[in-house]
Amino acid sequence: MIERTLVLVKPDGVSRMLVGEIVTRFEKVGLKIVGMKMFWVDKDFAKKHYKAHVGKPFFPGLEKNITEGPVVAMVLEGVHAVEIVRKMVGTTEPKSSAPGTIRGDYAHVSYKYADAKGVAMKNLIHASGNLEEANEEIALWFVDKELHSYKTVHDVHITYE
Ligand code: PPS
Repeated sequence: MIERTLVLVKPDGVSRMLVGEIVTRFEKVGLKIVGMKMFWVDKDFAKKHYKAHVGKPFFPGLEKNITEGPVVAMVLEGVHAVEIVRKMVGTTEPKSSAPGTIRGDYAHVSYKYADAKGVAMKNLIHASGNLEEANEEIALWFVDKELHSYKTVHDVHITYE
């Protein structure tokens, strides 16, 4: 049940200087950072990361957003980490994301507004959708030696190790 998942603070989140706020939220729930780096995605890498979405109408905008500045990539580990992180991130559209979620608390734009402006919606953060996707994305973004196993206090209080 202890899983690893990939999280990206996307260029809009980095440029808005929300990296610390976002990382703090994950740390506070006890998710362990096992890998972290800053990386500037190019178009080739964007097509690899978003391979399921290449060809969709929103892809050019998604590609533009993810390549416009550096991202902070991290691998988080914890009990049901994939589901917990997605819950904390909120839904794709910030307007519909509940208060208390990262997208609901730090953004508010809508599909409708972005479409009317002819731009791609910015939603701060990416998180793997399921365990299979998480494993694939972690392998794309990190090599084994960039991922670390170590103990935190949560290993005592949460996982009883
Ligand atoms: S998910 O995470 O796959 O369930 O999300 P999904 O809603 O299918 O969207 C896939 C990714 O494309 C982004 N997206 C958009 N970006 C800009 N504009 C529009 N209209 C749009 N629709 C979807 C969405 O945020 C997902 O990217 P990430 O980086 O995973 O959030």
